[in-house]
Amino acid sequence: MRRSKSKTKQIVERSSLSNRTEVVAHLRPHQRAVYDGMSRFNTLLAHRRFGKTVLAILILIEKALACEERRPQVHYYCPSYKQAKRVAWSYVKEFTALFPGTQTNELELKATLADGQVIQLGSADNPDDSRGIYSDFVVLDEPAQMPPRMWTEVLRPALSDRKGGMLAIGTPSGRHGLFYDLYNQAINSKDWWSGVYRASETAVVDEEELISARRAMSKAEYDQEYECSWDAAVKGSYWAEVMQSLEIGGKITSVLPTYGKQTHIALDLGINDATAAWFFQTDGELCRVIDYAEYTNMGLPDIVEDWRQRGYTYGKVIAPHDIQVRSLSTGVTRHQTLTELGCDVIVAPKGTVIEGIDVTRGFLSKCMFDRDKCADGIEALRQYRADWQDKRGVLALRPLHDWTSHGADAMRYLAVTGLDTLENRWGQIDYSQMDKGLVYA
Ligand SMILES: Nc1ncnc2c1ncn2[C@@H]1O[C@H](COP(=O)(O)OP(=O)(O)O)[C@@H](O)[C@H]1O
Ligand SMILES: [Mg+2]
Repeated sequence: MRRSKSKTKQIVERSSLSNRTEVVAHLRPHQRAVYDGMSRFNTLLAHRRFGKTVLAILILIEKALACEERRPQVHYYCPSYKQAKRVAWSYVKEFTALFPGTQTNELELKATLADGQVIQLGSADNPDDSRGIYSDFVVLDEPAQMPPRMWTEVLRPALSDRKGGMLAIGTPSGRHGLFYDLYNQAINSKDWWSGVYRASETAVVDEEELISARRAMSKAEYDQEYECSWDAAVKGSYWAEVMQSLEIGGKITSVLPTYGKQTHIALDLGINDATAAWFFQTDGELCRVIDYAEYTNMGLPDIVEDWRQRGYTYGKVIAPHDIQVRSLSTGVTRHQTLTELGCDVIVAPKGTVIEGIDVTRGFLSKCMFDRDKCADGIEALRQYRADWQDKRGVLALRPLHDWTSHGADAMRYLAVTGLDTLENRWGQIDYSQMDKGLVYA
């Protein structure tokens, strides 16, 4: 009995070894150099069409095969589910089909190899949905477009149990955000590997194609997409410029709550999506944004409890107008629920999204943000952008709906409501004016 068991194990080991060799054999020379150079944590900056996605999926399969833990599980993350399905899923199916007995699940975007190794795709649409998983290796494809906490709070902890590894791949997108952070960590840490592959150096894309790409793009775009430059801004972004000027003006810094001042909240309430909340104080015309939070799959009572635990002294809660809609199941509006939970709710005025985006641009120029507590929210504001219409090749007149929408919408509700409304002056007697008769400020 024993002998036959160990014999089976040997056969499995041998076949997994030959499978691994087979996977690696698919790598092109540059890809092979990346694979050979890698350590536990890795960032690969490479031009468009380098073969990043193919490389990452081959490495992922190889990591799954090489894993000696029980029930190996590896993950591939894209910014959105749509991208995961469109960009990576067909490659996963193509390469795992090399191994007999592989089963694929279209709904979960999951492939299970004959020996039980799982290769699963995921997205940053709702980062908190991935909390609690364990992983032996994760790939972050285009982390420049993911909320920073996708790594820090969700995926990094998932690797801890079994000392899993990570590969972040993509093109740069401005000197901020998750990819920029990871890249800096990689170049400053001994146990991280980082690679940069520019189109002018790899010859993967031929000269004719590069000339044609250069004609179709601005210099900044070309340098970003083909030469790995961090200097270009996010394409189609609504507020990147104003956020950049806040950064340069030192307005993204340490912003602590002022003792004795009320903290207000601006809220975007998601039903199927995340709920986002900005915490801020007013200082005349200036809006001091001290904190930011997102909640997924949480009811209002739990959200309000989280606010309590943050320990601020609260003033108003600004919420979108649709909180006045009655719930079909309970007949109660979310406005009522919030009020019953003790919140002093202001409903943001209704208006078009595009107008609101313009108003917000002006409003943001009068804001300061706490860099650490608002990190994910700030990144959402920088990256909030128009929908890219591939078919017609133009930017649509509506925002892209992705992880940036929640923080951006909550900020828009704040901007269109304005700070004046929060001062709560109505009905307060201004005693300094008593001798001139009663004045309502
Ligand atoms: N090892 C490989 N073998 C065969 N084709 C490859 C390989 N690597 C990349 N390709 C092809 O090159 C093209 C670009 O690859 P992709 O991974 O999508 O690039 P990137 O993600 O860097 O833009 C795709 O058509 C892909 O099929
Ligand atoms: Mg790619």
